[in-house]
Amino acid sequence: MSPKYDFDKIMDRTGTESLKWVYPRKVLKVEDAIPMWVADMDFEAPPAVVEAVRRRAEHGVFGYPLVPPSFYAAAIEWLKRRHGWEVRKDWMSMTPGIVPALNYCVRAFTKRADPVIIQTPVYHPFYYAIENNGRRVVRNPLRFDGRSYTMDLDDLRTKIDAPGRMLILCSPHNPAGRVWRREELEALGRIAVERDLLVVSDEVHHDLVYPGHRHHVLASLSPELAQQTITCIAPSKTFNIPGLATAAIVSPNPDLLKTFEDEAERSGFDLGQVFGIVGFEAAYAGGEEWLDALLPYLKGNVDFLERFLADRIPRIRLIRPEGTYLALLDCRGLRLEPTALNDFFLKKARVYFSDGKIFGPELEGFVRINFGCPRALLVEALERMERAVKALT
Ligand SMILES: Cc1ncc(COP(=O)(O)O)c(C=O)c1O
Repeated sequence: MSPKYDFDKIMDRTGTESLKWVYPRKVLKVEDAIPMWVADMDFEAPPAVVEAVRRRAEHGVFGYPLVPPSFYAAAIEWLKRRHGWEVRKDWMSMTPGIVPALNYCVRAFTKRADPVIIQTPVYHPFYYAIENNGRRVVRNPLRFDGRSYTMDLDDLRTKIDAPGRMLILCSPHNPAGRVWRREELEALGRIAVERDLLVVSDEVHHDLVYPGHRHHVLASLSPELAQQTITCIAPSKTFNIPGLATAAIVSPNPDLLKTFEDEAERSGFDLGQVFGIVGFEAAYAGGEEWLDALLPYLKGNVDFLERFLADRIPRIRLIRPEGTYLALLDCRGLRLEPTALNDFFLKKARVYFSDGKIFGPELEGFVRINFGCPRALLVEALERMERAVKALT
């Protein structure tokens, strides 16, 4: 590990009103629970971000901001360097987060009661973005062979019907942990082009990919596909700054971009906020070395998790992720009622996970672990789980 960045440092988040820490400890009232659920990491943001936000805070005047050209330039440079994707400033629009952007897309590009396709089990706000706006979820379930997930494109073909032709893609996929291979995305892209399917491609986890895998930007695969794709990007997962609530959408299709922006304007939020804009730019412009140090640390965590489960809690199986700092744990071997599973971990192990069921009924008997934390915290959580599982038998 780079000595410059200390990912082993235990961060005391008490007093910062962290959702991740407050919810299991204060709301669910398990005072010493280790939180391993919502997707933020227990690491300090890159020094470049902390410094930029501090400098801006010291100015002391926090009026309405503009989004400076350097904001877009930092993202453009990042997408080119890390993902080989060349985009232009006039293809981009700042948004207060990817989840808001998904909601805007649903409202902008479909009508009430229209179907919107998602590949389940999937990040639960995808369902909310569809259902809360009065649209209909159409499931294109992933195939699971007991070890890994793949897309079911034959099923997808049968699910595309007029008039609502929209798919929200999760790439890399949360919570399945898949980094879709180029051939998989190309096959999906061919269907999208043939059937005039609008794809909203949520690529927020695109920088968090493990050796042996490579992220491919869907819209970069063909110019036709790019014309019917909206790509969502953000530094929020990569650099652990989701609380700065700033993301961007990218599309080379001016009509899609304009329709999106009109909807964002109707929602009343189109200016952005001071620290989010500053943090977004600083992360892309100055966070790369930090990220290159983080990735081996996260890989070390997932290696440790895999070994620990295999050696000491073999009744729980890891679905090893190809990307993201999130992983599914197949806990069906514990033979607990699916409704009791997360409660068992919280009350008996004092570790709080995301319940698999929130991502879809396919994940009954699974939980999702967030291993984006100092190794010592992961070790402590696993030892607590081991003791709780032993006490079951
Ligand atoms: C697939 C996916 N999209 C979006 C988000 C959140 O995006 P934002 O905080 O920008 O709304 C997450 C967070 O976990 C995620 O996993």
